[in-house]
Amino acid sequence: MSDTKVMNIAKKRGFLWSSFEIYSGSAGFFDYGPLGATLKNNIISKWRKYYIVGEGFYEIESPTIMPEEALKASGHVDHFTDPMTECKDCLEVFRADHVIEDVIDDDVEGLENQRLTEIISENQIGCPKCGGHLTHVWSYNLMFQTMIGAKGKATGYMRPETAQGIFIPFKRLLRFFRGKLPFGVVQIGKAYRNEISPRQGIIRLREFTQAEAEIFVDPVDKDHPKFGNVANDKLKLLSSDAQLNKEDPKIVTAKSAVETGLVSSEVLTYQLCIAGRFLADLGIPIDVIRFRQHLPTEMAHYAIDCWDVEVLTDRFGWIEIIGIADRTDFDLKSHAKYSNEDLSVFIEYDEPKKINKLVVKPDMKKFGPLFKADAPKVIKALEDLDASEVQRVFDNGETYNIDLEDKTVEISSDVVSFNEQEEMVRGEKVVPHVIEPSFGIDRIIYSVLLHSYTEDDEREFLKLEKQIAPIGVNVFPLVNKDKLAEKAHEIREELRNQGIIAEYDGSGTIGRRYARSDEIGVPFAVTVDHETLENNTVTIRNRDNLEQVRIPVQNVYSVLIDLLTG
Ligand code: GAP
Repeated sequence: MSDTKVMNIAKKRGFLWSSFEIYSGSAGFFDYGPLGATLKNNIISKWRKYYIVGEGFYEIESPTIMPEEALKASGHVDHFTDPMTECKDCLEVFRADHVIEDVIDDDVEGLENQRLTEIISENQIGCPKCGGHLTHVWSYNLMFQTMIGAKGKATGYMRPETAQGIFIPFKRLLRFFRGKLPFGVVQIGKAYRNEISPRQGIIRLREFTQAEAEIFVDPVDKDHPKFGNVANDKLKLLSSDAQLNKEDPKIVTAKSAVETGLVSSEVLTYQLCIAGRFLADLGIPIDVIRFRQHLPTEMAHYAIDCWDVEVLTDRFGWIEIIGIADRTDFDLKSHAKYSNEDLSVFIEYDEPKKINKLVVKPDMKKFGPLFKADAPKVIKALEDLDASEVQRVFDNGETYNIDLEDKTVEISSDVVSFNEQEEMVRGEKVVPHVIEPSFGIDRIIYSVLLHSYTEDDEREFLKLEKQIAPIGVNVFPLVNKDKLAEKAHEIREELRNQGIIAEYDGSGTIGRRYARSDEIGVPFAVTVDHETLENNTVTIRNRDNLEQVRIPVQNVYSVLIDLLTG
Protein backbone atom coordinates (compact mmCIF):
# COMPACT_ATOMS: atom_id res chain seq x y z
CA MET A 1 0.00 0.00 0.00
CA SER A 2 1.13 3.49 -0.62
CA ASP A 3 -0.82 6.59 0.30
CA THR A 4 1.10 8.88 -2.05
CA LYS A 5 0.81 6.65 -5.12
CA VAL A 6 -2.88 5.92 -4.55
CA MET A 7 -3.79 9.54 -3.94
CA ASN A 8 -1.93 10.55 -7.10
CA ILE A 9 -3.91 8.04 -9.14
CA ALA A 10 -7.10 9.14 -7.40
CA LYS A 11 -6.50 12.76 -8.33
CA LYS A 12 -5.23 12.15 -11.87
CA ARG A 13 -7.85 9.59 -12.88
CA GLY A 14 -10.96 11.29 -11.46
CA PHE A 15 -11.66 9.60 -8.14
CA LEU A 16 -11.00 12.42 -5.67
CA TRP A 17 -9.44 15.83 -5.40
CA SER A 18 -9.41 18.77 -2.99
CA SER A 19 -12.46 21.00 -3.38
CA PHE A 20 -12.37 24.62 -4.54
CA GLU A 21 -8.90 24.15 -6.10
CA ILE A 22 -9.10 27.20 -8.37
CA TYR A 23 -9.67 29.34 -5.26
CA SER A 24 -6.68 27.79 -3.46
CA GLY A 25 -8.82 25.12 -1.79
CA SER A 26 -10.34 24.91 1.68
CA ALA A 27 -9.01 22.35 4.17
CA GLY A 28 -11.32 19.49 5.07
CA PHE A 29 -13.38 19.46 1.85
CA PHE A 30 -13.01 16.97 -1.01
CA ASP A 31 -14.80 16.43 -4.34
CA TYR A 32 -15.60 12.96 -5.59
CA GLY A 33 -14.91 12.95 -9.33
CA PRO A 34 -16.68 10.76 -11.92
CA LEU A 35 -15.04 7.50 -10.84
CA GLY A 36 -15.00 8.40 -7.14
CA ALA A 37 -18.71 9.24 -7.05
CA THR A 38 -19.55 5.93 -8.74
CA LEU A 39 -17.27 3.98 -6.40
CA LYS A 40 -18.93 5.70 -3.45
CA ASN A 41 -22.42 4.86 -4.73
CA ASN A 42 -21.42 1.24 -5.28
CA ILE A 43 -20.09 0.98 -1.72
CA ILE A 44 -23.28 2.53 -0.36
CA SER A 45 -25.35 0.08 -2.45
CA LYS A 46 -23.44 -2.77 -0.90
CA TRP A 47 -24.02 -1.28 2.56
CA ARG A 48 -27.75 -1.12 1.81
CA LYS A 49 -27.63 -4.78 0.79
CA TYR A 50 -26.16 -5.66 4.17
CA TYR A 51 -28.38 -3.55 6.39
CA ILE A 52 -31.65 -3.13 4.52
CA VAL A 53 -31.87 -6.41 2.63
CA GLY A 54 -29.77 -8.56 5.02
CA GLU A 55 -30.83 -7.20 8.41
CA GLY A 56 -34.33 -6.01 7.48
CA PHE A 57 -33.74 -2.44 8.64
CA TYR A 58 -35.53 0.53 7.02
CA GLU A 59 -33.93 3.70 5.71
CA ILE A 60 -35.10 7.23 6.44
CA GLU A 61 -33.88 10.66 5.39
CA SER A 62 -34.01 13.70 7.67
CA PRO A 63 -32.76 17.30 7.30
CA THR A 64 -29.05 18.10 7.63
CA ILE A 65 -29.85 21.39 9.43
CA MET A 66 -31.17 20.92 12.94
CA PRO A 67 -32.71 23.38 15.43
CA GLU A 68 -30.68 24.14 18.55
CA GLU A 69 -33.19 22.54 21.00
CA ALA A 70 -32.69 19.12 19.40
CA LEU A 71 -28.90 19.27 19.67
CA LYS A 72 -29.09 20.71 23.17
CA ALA A 73 -31.13 17.64 24.15
CA SER A 74 -28.69 15.26 22.46
CA GLY A 75 -25.80 16.78 24.41
CA HIS A 76 -23.96 18.10 21.33
CA VAL A 77 -24.34 21.80 22.18
CA ASP A 78 -22.63 21.26 25.56
CA HIS A 79 -20.35 18.27 25.00
CA PHE A 80 -19.37 17.95 21.34
CA THR A 81 -16.06 19.69 21.83
CA ASP A 82 -12.34 19.23 21.28
CA PRO A 83 -9.65 20.85 23.45
CA MET A 84 -8.14 23.72 21.48
CA THR A 85 -5.05 25.84 21.94
CA GLU A 86 -3.57 28.74 19.98
CA CYS A 87 -0.03 29.94 19.30
CA LYS A 88 0.54 33.45 20.70
CA ASP A 89 3.09 34.13 17.96
CA CYS A 90 1.76 32.76 14.64
CA LEU A 91 -1.91 32.60 15.80
CA GLU A 92 -2.32 29.09 14.37
CA VAL A 93 -4.80 26.87 16.29
CA PHE A 94 -4.24 23.22 17.24
CA ARG A 95 -5.92 20.32 18.99
CA ALA A 96 -4.25 20.54 22.37
CA ASP A 97 -4.31 16.80 23.12
CA HIS A 98 -2.63 15.97 19.78
CA VAL A 99 0.10 18.57 20.26
CA ILE A 100 0.83 17.26 23.76
CA GLU A 101 0.76 13.58 22.77
CA ASP A 102 3.26 14.26 19.97
CA VAL A 103 5.73 15.51 22.58
CA ILE A 104 5.21 13.58 25.83
CA ASP A 105 4.28 10.15 24.46
CA ASP A 106 1.40 9.67 26.92
CA ASP A 107 -2.36 9.39 26.52
CA VAL A 108 -4.00 12.65 27.64
CA GLU A 109 -7.44 12.10 26.11
CA GLY A 110 -10.25 13.05 28.47
CA LEU A 111 -8.15 15.25 30.76
CA GLU A 112 -9.62 18.59 31.89
CA ASN A 113 -8.58 21.73 29.98
CA GLN A 114 -6.92 23.11 33.10
CA ARG A 115 -4.70 20.01 33.36
CA LEU A 116 -3.83 20.14 29.64
CA THR A 117 -2.80 23.78 30.06
CA GLU A 118 -0.56 22.77 32.96
CA ILE A 119 1.02 19.92 30.97
CA ILE A 120 1.84 22.32 28.12
CA SER A 121 3.50 24.68 30.55
CA GLU A 122 5.29 21.98 32.66
CA ASN A 123 6.77 20.41 29.52
CA GLN A 124 7.39 23.75 27.79
CA ILE A 125 5.57 22.47 24.70
CA GLY A 126 5.88 24.95 21.85
CA CYS A 127 3.87 25.63 18.70
CA PRO A 128 4.36 22.74 16.20
CA LYS A 129 4.46 25.28 13.38
CA CYS A 130 6.74 28.10 14.55
CA GLY A 131 8.00 26.94 17.95
CA GLY A 132 6.26 29.92 19.61
CA HIS A 133 4.29 29.97 22.90
CA LEU A 134 1.00 28.15 23.23
CA THR A 135 -1.85 29.83 25.12
CA HIS A 136 -4.25 28.06 27.51
CA VAL A 137 -6.60 25.24 26.44
CA TRP A 138 -10.33 25.75 25.96
CA SER A 139 -13.28 23.66 24.68
CA TYR A 140 -14.11 24.27 21.06
CA ASN A 141 -17.51 23.11 19.78
CA LEU A 142 -17.16 21.27 16.47
CA MET A 143 -20.60 22.07 15.09
CA PHE A 144 -21.19 24.52 12.24
CA GLN A 145 -23.69 27.08 13.45
CA THR A 146 -26.24 28.70 11.18
CA MET A 147 -29.45 30.73 11.39
CA ILE A 148 -32.90 29.46 10.51
CA GLY A 149 -35.38 31.89 8.96
CA ALA A 150 -35.20 35.21 7.13
CA LYS A 151 -34.78 37.20 10.33
CA GLY A 152 -32.31 34.65 11.66
CA LYS A 153 -34.26 34.30 14.87
CA ALA A 154 -33.57 30.63 15.52
CA THR A 155 -30.10 29.17 15.90
CA GLY A 156 -29.51 26.02 13.90
CA TYR A 157 -26.57 23.66 13.39
CA MET A 158 -25.45 21.43 10.56
CA ARG A 159 -25.96 17.93 11.96
CA PRO A 160 -22.79 16.41 13.45
CA GLU A 161 -24.12 12.84 12.98
CA THR A 162 -27.04 11.34 11.05
CA ALA A 163 -28.17 9.40 14.15
CA GLN A 164 -30.14 12.24 15.78
CA GLY A 165 -32.49 12.36 12.77
CA ILE A 166 -33.51 8.80 13.70
CA PHE A 167 -34.02 9.35 17.45
CA ILE A 168 -36.21 12.43 17.12
CA PRO A 169 -39.09 10.82 15.13
CA PHE A 170 -38.92 7.69 17.37
CA LYS A 171 -42.67 7.74 18.12
CA ARG A 172 -43.54 7.68 14.42
CA LEU A 173 -40.99 4.96 13.75
CA LEU A 174 -42.35 2.88 16.61
CA ARG A 175 -45.82 3.15 15.11
CA PHE A 176 -44.42 2.09 11.71
CA PHE A 177 -42.92 -1.01 13.37
CA ARG A 178 -46.28 -1.66 15.10
CA GLY A 179 -44.99 -0.93 18.54
CA LYS A 180 -42.64 -3.94 18.63
CA LEU A 181 -38.93 -4.20 19.47
CA PRO A 182 -36.32 -4.85 18.22
CA PHE A 183 -36.18 -2.80 15.04
CA GLY A 184 -33.45 -1.05 13.09
CA VAL A 185 -33.49 2.22 11.19
CA VAL A 186 -30.68 3.52 9.01
CA GLN A 187 -29.72 6.85 7.56
CA ILE A 188 -27.04 7.60 4.97
CA GLY A 189 -25.99 11.17 4.41
CA LYS A 190 -23.75 14.11 5.12
CA ALA A 191 -22.52 15.04 8.58
CA TYR A 192 -20.58 18.21 9.40
CA ARG A 193 -17.81 18.90 11.89
CA ASN A 194 -15.71 22.03 11.88
CA GLU A 195 -12.51 20.09 12.65
CA ILE A 196 -9.72 22.22 14.14
CA SER A 197 -6.96 21.56 11.64
CA PRO A 198 -7.85 18.88 9.11
CA ARG A 199 -4.65 17.93 7.32
CA GLN A 200 -5.26 14.25 6.71
CA GLY A 201 -6.98 14.16 3.32
CA ILE A 202 -10.31 12.36 3.38
CA ILE A 203 -9.62 10.88 6.81
CA ARG A 204 -10.60 14.09 8.56
CA LEU A 205 -13.16 16.10 6.64
CA ARG A 206 -15.37 18.99 7.64
CA GLU A 207 -18.20 17.57 5.50
CA PHE A 208 -18.35 13.79 5.23
CA THR A 209 -20.76 10.93 4.65
CA GLN A 210 -21.97 8.59 7.34
CA ALA A 211 -24.04 5.43 7.06
CA GLU A 212 -25.53 4.75 10.46
CA ALA A 213 -27.91 2.15 11.84
CA GLU A 214 -29.77 2.65 15.11
CA ILE A 215 -30.97 -0.65 16.48
CA PHE A 216 -33.64 -0.26 19.15
CA VAL A 217 -33.74 -3.18 21.56
CA ASP A 218 -35.47 -4.09 24.78
CA PRO A 219 -32.54 -3.87 27.25
CA VAL A 220 -33.26 -7.39 28.53
CA ASP A 221 -32.81 -8.65 24.96
CA LYS A 222 -29.27 -7.33 24.49
CA ASP A 223 -27.94 -10.80 25.17
CA HIS A 224 -30.72 -12.65 23.47
CA PRO A 225 -29.53 -15.80 21.68
CA LYS A 226 -31.32 -14.67 18.53
CA PHE A 227 -28.48 -12.20 18.12
CA GLY A 228 -25.75 -14.46 19.49
CA ASN A 229 -26.40 -17.46 17.26
CA VAL A 230 -26.13 -15.51 14.08
CA ALA A 231 -23.02 -13.84 15.43
CA ASN A 232 -21.31 -17.16 15.91
CA ASP A 233 -21.98 -18.07 12.31
CA LYS A 234 -20.67 -14.81 10.98
CA LEU A 235 -17.64 -15.02 13.25
CA LYS A 236 -16.30 -17.97 11.33
CA LEU A 237 -15.30 -15.58 8.63
CA LEU A 238 -13.25 -13.57 11.07
CA SER A 239 -11.73 -16.47 12.90
CA SER A 240 -8.14 -15.55 12.09
CA ASP A 241 -6.36 -14.36 15.20
CA ALA A 242 -3.83 -12.40 13.18
CA GLN A 243 -5.08 -9.11 14.55
CA LEU A 244 -4.80 -10.09 18.19
CA ASN A 245 -2.45 -7.66 19.80
CA LYS A 246 -0.74 -9.41 22.69
CA GLU A 247 0.54 -6.18 24.22
CA ASP A 248 -2.84 -4.53 24.35
CA PRO A 249 -5.60 -6.98 25.21
CA LYS A 250 -8.25 -4.41 24.30
CA ILE A 251 -7.29 -4.79 20.65
CA VAL A 252 -8.76 -8.00 19.38
CA THR A 253 -10.52 -9.83 16.61
CA ALA A 254 -14.26 -10.11 16.95
CA LYS A 255 -13.77 -13.77 17.78
CA SER A 256 -11.40 -13.12 20.64
CA ALA A 257 -13.60 -10.28 21.81
CA VAL A 258 -16.45 -12.72 22.26
CA GLU A 259 -14.30 -15.41 23.81
CA THR A 260 -12.75 -13.05 26.32
CA GLY A 261 -16.14 -11.55 27.12
CA LEU A 262 -14.93 -8.00 26.44
CA VAL A 263 -17.90 -6.94 24.36
CA SER A 264 -20.76 -5.82 26.56
CA SER A 265 -23.59 -7.58 24.73
CA GLU A 266 -24.42 -10.11 22.06
CA VAL A 267 -26.09 -7.46 19.90
CA LEU A 268 -22.90 -5.42 19.89
CA THR A 269 -20.82 -8.50 19.13
CA TYR A 270 -23.05 -9.34 16.22
CA GLN A 271 -22.65 -5.82 14.85
CA LEU A 272 -18.86 -6.08 15.10
CA CYS A 273 -19.02 -9.24 13.04
CA ILE A 274 -21.19 -7.74 10.34
CA ALA A 275 -18.95 -4.68 10.11
CA GLY A 276 -15.82 -6.80 9.75
CA ARG A 277 -17.46 -8.95 7.15
CA PHE A 278 -18.64 -5.92 5.19
CA LEU A 279 -15.09 -4.53 5.02
CA ALA A 280 -13.73 -7.92 3.97
CA ASP A 281 -16.40 -8.04 1.28
CA LEU A 282 -15.16 -4.70 -0.07
CA GLY A 283 -11.79 -6.35 -0.63
CA ILE A 284 -9.98 -5.03 2.47
CA PRO A 285 -7.69 -7.87 3.64
CA ILE A 286 -8.71 -9.30 6.98
CA ASP A 287 -5.22 -8.95 8.46
CA VAL A 288 -5.37 -5.15 8.19
CA ILE A 289 -8.71 -4.96 10.04
CA ARG A 290 -8.90 -4.96 13.83
CA PHE A 291 -11.36 -4.09 16.58
CA ARG A 292 -10.43 -1.80 19.45
CA GLN A 293 -12.48 -1.09 22.54
CA HIS A 294 -12.61 2.52 23.71
CA LEU A 295 -10.98 3.38 26.99
CA PRO A 296 -13.39 5.04 29.43
CA THR A 297 -11.63 8.38 28.77
CA GLU A 298 -12.29 8.16 25.02
CA MET A 299 -15.96 7.22 25.19
CA ALA A 300 -18.49 9.65 23.68
CA HIS A 301 -20.84 11.30 26.19
CA TYR A 302 -23.69 8.96 25.21
CA ALA A 303 -21.96 5.54 25.26
CA ILE A 304 -21.26 2.84 27.85
CA ASP A 305 -19.30 0.60 25.47
CA CYS A 306 -17.80 1.48 22.12
CA TRP A 307 -15.62 -0.41 19.66
CA ASP A 308 -13.74 1.02 16.74
CA VAL A 309 -13.21 -1.04 13.64
CA GLU A 310 -9.77 0.06 12.50
CA VAL A 311 -7.85 -0.39 9.27
CA LEU A 312 -4.08 -0.22 8.92
CA THR A 313 -2.67 2.53 6.68
CA ASP A 314 0.93 3.36 5.84
CA ARG A 315 0.59 7.09 6.41
CA PHE A 316 -1.62 7.29 9.52
CA GLY A 317 -1.15 3.86 11.15
CA TRP A 318 -4.38 2.24 12.40
CA ILE A 319 -7.39 4.48 11.73
CA GLU A 320 -10.94 4.25 13.00
CA ILE A 321 -13.32 3.80 10.12
CA ILE A 322 -16.40 2.44 11.89
CA GLY A 323 -17.56 3.07 15.45
CA ILE A 324 -19.99 0.65 17.11
CA ALA A 325 -21.50 1.94 20.32
CA ASP A 326 -23.94 0.91 22.99
CA ARG A 327 -25.77 4.24 23.43
CA THR A 328 -28.13 2.73 26.05
CA ASP A 329 -31.33 4.79 26.52
CA PHE A 330 -29.32 8.04 26.67
CA ASP A 331 -30.70 9.67 23.52
CA LEU A 332 -34.34 8.65 23.87
CA LYS A 333 -34.40 9.65 27.55
CA SER A 334 -32.84 13.05 26.81
CA HIS A 335 -35.20 13.77 23.93
CA ALA A 336 -38.14 12.64 26.09
CA LYS A 337 -37.06 14.99 28.86
CA TYR A 338 -36.47 18.03 26.62
CA SER A 339 -39.54 17.53 24.42
CA ASN A 340 -41.90 16.32 27.16
CA GLU A 341 -42.90 13.38 24.97
CA ASP A 342 -43.19 9.79 26.12
CA LEU A 343 -40.55 7.88 24.10
CA SER A 344 -41.03 4.54 25.82
CA VAL A 345 -42.40 1.28 24.44
CA PHE A 346 -45.06 -0.81 26.12
CA ILE A 347 -43.72 -4.36 26.31
CA GLU A 348 -46.49 -6.86 26.87
CA TYR A 349 -45.73 -9.89 29.09
CA ASP A 350 -46.49 -13.38 27.77
CA GLU A 351 -49.02 -13.70 30.64
CA PRO A 352 -50.44 -10.90 32.85
CA LYS A 353 -48.47 -10.73 36.11
CA LYS A 354 -49.48 -10.01 39.67
CA ILE A 355 -47.14 -7.40 41.10
CA ASN A 356 -46.73 -5.46 44.30
CA LYS A 357 -46.84 -1.88 43.16
CA LEU A 358 -45.52 0.98 45.25
CA VAL A 359 -48.14 3.72 45.54
CA VAL A 360 -48.21 7.15 47.16
CA LYS A 361 -51.12 7.67 49.52
CA PRO A 362 -52.14 11.06 50.91
CA ASP A 363 -52.36 11.45 54.66
CA MET A 364 -55.83 13.02 54.58
CA LYS A 365 -55.55 14.68 57.99
CA LYS A 366 -52.76 16.90 56.79
CA PHE A 367 -53.53 16.79 53.10
CA GLY A 368 -57.15 18.07 53.05
CA PRO A 369 -56.58 21.25 55.06
CA LEU A 370 -53.37 21.94 53.13
CA PHE A 371 -54.75 21.71 49.59
CA LYS A 372 -58.40 22.54 50.35
CA ALA A 373 -60.50 22.62 47.17
CA ASP A 374 -57.57 21.32 45.06
CA ALA A 375 -57.20 18.18 47.18
CA PRO A 376 -59.22 15.85 44.82
CA LYS A 377 -57.15 16.98 41.82
CA VAL A 378 -53.88 16.51 43.69
CA ILE A 379 -54.95 13.03 44.89
CA LYS A 380 -55.82 12.06 41.31
CA ALA A 381 -52.40 13.30 40.12
CA LEU A 382 -50.70 11.28 42.90
CA GLU A 383 -52.27 8.06 41.58
CA ASP A 384 -50.54 8.50 38.22
CA LEU A 385 -47.11 9.21 39.64
CA ASP A 386 -44.14 6.87 39.61
CA ALA A 387 -43.99 6.28 43.38
CA SER A 388 -40.35 5.18 43.39
CA GLU A 389 -39.39 8.45 41.69
CA VAL A 390 -41.31 10.43 44.35
CA GLN A 391 -39.58 8.37 47.04
CA ARG A 392 -36.19 9.10 45.45
CA VAL A 393 -36.92 12.84 45.53
CA PHE A 394 -37.94 12.69 49.22
CA ASP A 395 -34.89 10.58 50.07
CA ASN A 396 -32.80 13.44 48.67
CA GLY A 397 -34.51 15.72 51.19
CA GLU A 398 -36.38 17.59 48.43
CA THR A 399 -40.07 18.32 47.86
CA TYR A 400 -42.01 17.01 44.85
CA ASN A 401 -43.82 19.38 42.49
CA ILE A 402 -47.08 18.39 40.87
CA ASP A 403 -48.33 20.40 37.90
CA LEU A 404 -52.07 21.03 37.92
CA GLU A 405 -53.75 22.84 35.01
CA ASP A 406 -53.40 26.30 36.50
CA LYS A 407 -50.75 25.95 39.21
CA THR A 408 -47.95 23.88 40.62
CA VAL A 409 -48.33 22.40 44.12
CA GLU A 410 -45.47 21.33 46.33
CA ILE A 411 -45.73 18.03 48.20
CA SER A 412 -43.52 17.31 51.17
CA SER A 413 -42.80 13.85 52.56
CA ASP A 414 -44.79 14.41 55.76
CA VAL A 415 -48.18 14.66 53.98
CA VAL A 416 -47.99 11.27 52.21
CA SER A 417 -47.09 7.65 52.93
CA PHE A 418 -45.90 4.82 50.66
CA ASN A 419 -47.78 1.50 50.47
CA GLU A 420 -47.44 -1.64 48.41
CA GLN A 421 -50.57 -2.63 46.52
CA GLU A 422 -51.22 -5.86 44.59
CA GLU A 423 -52.07 -5.32 40.94
CA MET A 424 -52.44 -7.40 37.73
CA VAL A 425 -50.37 -5.90 34.91
CA ARG A 426 -50.21 -6.79 31.21
CA GLY A 427 -46.75 -5.41 30.62
CA GLU A 428 -44.44 -2.52 31.33
CA LYS A 429 -43.09 0.62 29.74
CA VAL A 430 -39.46 0.42 28.69
CA VAL A 431 -37.20 3.02 27.10
CA PRO A 432 -35.33 1.04 24.42
CA HIS A 433 -31.57 0.82 24.36
CA VAL A 434 -29.75 1.61 21.14
CA ILE A 435 -26.86 -0.25 19.55
CA GLU A 436 -25.32 1.85 16.81
CA PRO A 437 -22.93 0.85 14.04
CA SER A 438 -21.67 4.10 12.51
CA PHE A 439 -19.73 3.89 9.24
CA GLY A 440 -17.57 6.69 7.85
CA ILE A 441 -18.00 6.17 4.12
CA ASP A 442 -15.10 8.45 3.13
CA ARG A 443 -12.65 6.56 5.36
CA ILE A 444 -13.93 3.31 3.90
CA ILE A 445 -13.29 4.62 0.39
CA TYR A 446 -9.78 5.64 1.40
CA SER A 447 -9.12 2.17 2.86
CA VAL A 448 -10.55 0.44 -0.19
CA LEU A 449 -8.37 2.46 -2.58
CA LEU A 450 -5.29 2.03 -0.42
CA HIS A 451 -5.61 -1.71 -0.05
CA SER A 452 -6.62 -2.35 -3.63
CA TYR A 453 -3.39 -0.73 -4.85
CA THR A 454 -1.16 -3.48 -6.23
CA GLU A 455 2.32 -3.29 -7.70
CA ASP A 456 4.25 -6.00 -9.48
CA ASP A 457 7.23 -6.06 -11.84
CA GLU A 458 5.15 -5.00 -14.80
CA ARG A 459 2.31 -2.85 -13.58
CA GLU A 460 0.58 -0.77 -10.93
CA PHE A 461 -3.12 -1.36 -10.63
CA LEU A 462 -6.17 -1.11 -8.39
CA LYS A 463 -7.45 -4.55 -7.52
CA LEU A 464 -10.91 -3.15 -6.78
CA GLU A 465 -13.47 -5.73 -5.77
CA LYS A 466 -15.47 -6.28 -8.95
CA GLN A 467 -18.90 -5.47 -7.49
CA ILE A 468 -17.79 -1.99 -6.48
CA ALA A 469 -15.43 -1.09 -9.34
CA PRO A 470 -16.83 2.07 -10.98
CA ILE A 471 -16.45 0.65 -14.47
CA GLY A 472 -17.25 -3.03 -14.90
CA VAL A 473 -15.85 -3.63 -18.37
CA ASN A 474 -13.69 -1.86 -20.93
CA VAL A 475 -14.22 -2.73 -24.56
CA PHE A 476 -11.25 -2.28 -26.93
CA PRO A 477 -10.64 -2.82 -30.61
CA LEU A 478 -7.26 -4.59 -30.96
CA VAL A 479 -6.28 -1.93 -33.46
CA ASN A 480 -8.19 1.21 -34.12
CA LYS A 481 -9.49 0.22 -37.57
CA ASP A 482 -13.03 0.98 -38.80
CA LYS A 483 -14.61 -2.47 -38.62
CA LEU A 484 -13.04 -3.43 -35.27
CA ALA A 485 -13.87 -0.08 -33.69
CA GLU A 486 -17.46 -0.28 -34.96
CA LYS A 487 -17.92 -3.77 -33.51
CA ALA A 488 -16.37 -2.72 -30.19
CA HIS A 489 -18.80 0.22 -29.99
CA GLU A 490 -21.66 -2.15 -30.74
CA ILE A 491 -20.66 -4.52 -27.91
CA ARG A 492 -20.19 -1.62 -25.51
CA GLU A 493 -23.72 -0.37 -26.35
CA GLU A 494 -25.20 -3.81 -25.85
CA LEU A 495 -23.54 -4.21 -22.44
CA ARG A 496 -24.81 -0.80 -21.36
CA ASN A 497 -28.32 -1.62 -22.55
CA GLN A 498 -28.18 -4.70 -20.35
CA GLY A 499 -27.12 -2.66 -17.30
CA ILE A 500 -23.34 -3.18 -17.12
CA ILE A 501 -21.25 -0.02 -16.90
CA ALA A 502 -18.98 -0.46 -19.92
CA GLU A 503 -16.54 1.97 -21.54
CA TYR A 504 -14.85 2.11 -24.93
CA ASP A 505 -11.21 3.09 -25.35
CA GLY A 506 -9.62 3.26 -28.78
CA SER A 507 -6.69 5.59 -28.23
CA GLY A 508 -3.01 4.57 -28.07
CA THR A 509 -1.74 1.00 -28.26
CA ILE A 510 -3.63 -1.95 -26.81
CA GLY A 511 -0.90 -2.21 -24.13
CA ARG A 512 -1.50 1.39 -23.03
CA ARG A 513 -5.24 0.79 -22.96
CA TYR A 514 -4.85 -2.25 -20.70
CA ALA A 515 -2.54 -0.23 -18.43
CA ARG A 516 -5.06 2.65 -18.19
CA SER A 517 -7.87 0.21 -17.52
CA ASP A 518 -5.92 -1.60 -14.78
CA GLU A 519 -4.86 1.65 -13.17
CA ILE A 520 -8.51 2.56 -12.42
CA GLY A 521 -9.40 -0.98 -11.44
CA VAL A 522 -11.67 -2.11 -14.32
CA PRO A 523 -12.01 -5.87 -13.60
CA PHE A 524 -12.54 -7.10 -17.19
CA ALA A 525 -11.61 -6.05 -20.71
CA VAL A 526 -13.28 -7.31 -23.87
CA THR A 527 -11.03 -7.17 -26.93
CA VAL A 528 -12.40 -7.16 -30.45
CA ASP A 529 -9.85 -8.55 -32.94
CA HIS A 530 -9.67 -10.02 -36.42
CA GLU A 531 -11.20 -13.29 -35.25
CA THR A 532 -14.26 -11.33 -34.15
CA LEU A 533 -14.88 -10.45 -37.78
CA GLU A 534 -14.13 -14.00 -38.96
CA ASN A 535 -15.92 -16.19 -36.39
CA ASN A 536 -17.75 -13.73 -34.13
CA THR A 537 -15.68 -14.33 -30.98
CA VAL A 538 -13.96 -11.93 -28.57
CA THR A 539 -11.50 -12.31 -25.71
CA ILE A 540 -12.23 -11.43 -22.10
CA ARG A 541 -9.18 -10.44 -20.07
CA ASN A 542 -9.09 -10.72 -16.28
CA ARG A 543 -7.38 -7.71 -14.63
CA ASP A 544 -5.97 -9.69 -11.71
CA ASN A 545 -4.41 -12.79 -13.30
CA LEU A 546 -4.20 -11.49 -16.88
CA GLU A 547 -5.84 -14.66 -18.20
CA GLN A 548 -7.73 -14.31 -21.46
CA VAL A 549 -10.58 -16.55 -22.59
CA ARG A 550 -12.20 -16.53 -26.02
CA ILE A 551 -15.98 -16.70 -26.15
CA PRO A 552 -18.72 -16.18 -28.76
CA VAL A 553 -19.95 -12.59 -29.00
CA GLN A 554 -23.52 -13.67 -28.24
CA ASN A 555 -22.35 -14.93 -24.81
CA VAL A 556 -20.51 -11.76 -23.81
CA TYR A 557 -23.25 -10.40 -21.58
CA SER A 558 -24.07 -13.65 -19.78
CA VAL A 559 -20.39 -14.47 -19.17
CA LEU A 560 -19.63 -10.97 -17.90
CA ILE A 561 -22.64 -10.74 -15.64
CA ASP A 562 -21.61 -14.06 -14.05
CA LEU A 563 -18.06 -12.83 -13.64
CA LEU A 564 -19.09 -9.47 -12.19
CA THR A 565 -21.67 -10.77 -9.75
CA GLY A 566 -20.18 -14.19 -8.93
N1 GAP B 1 -23.15 8.53 15.54
C1 GAP B 1 -21.89 8.14 16.07
C2 GAP B 1 -20.77 8.87 15.49
O1 GAP B 1 -20.95 9.83 14.76
P1 GAP B 1 -18.17 8.92 15.38
O2 GAP B 1 -17.18 7.90 15.85
O3 GAP B 1 -18.00 10.32 15.79
O4 GAP B 1 -19.58 8.35 15.83
C3 GAP B 1 -18.51 7.66 13.13
O5 GAP B 1 -18.23 8.86 13.79
C4 GAP B 1 -17.61 7.51 11.94
O6 GAP B 1 -17.68 8.68 11.11
C5 GAP B 1 -16.13 7.37 12.29
O7 GAP B 1 -15.80 6.03 12.58
C6 GAP B 1 -15.45 7.88 11.04
O8 GAP B 1 -15.32 6.84 10.07
C7 GAP B 1 -16.42 8.91 10.49
N2 GAP B 1 -15.93 10.26 10.81
C8 GAP B 1 -16.03 10.93 11.96
N3 GAP B 1 -15.47 12.14 11.88
C9 GAP B 1 -15.00 12.25 10.61
C10 GAP B 1 -14.31 13.28 9.88
N4 GAP B 1 -14.04 14.46 10.43
N5 GAP B 1 -13.99 13.03 8.58
C11 GAP B 1 -14.28 11.86 7.99
N6 GAP B 1 -14.93 10.86 8.63
C12 GAP B 1 -15.28 11.05 9.91
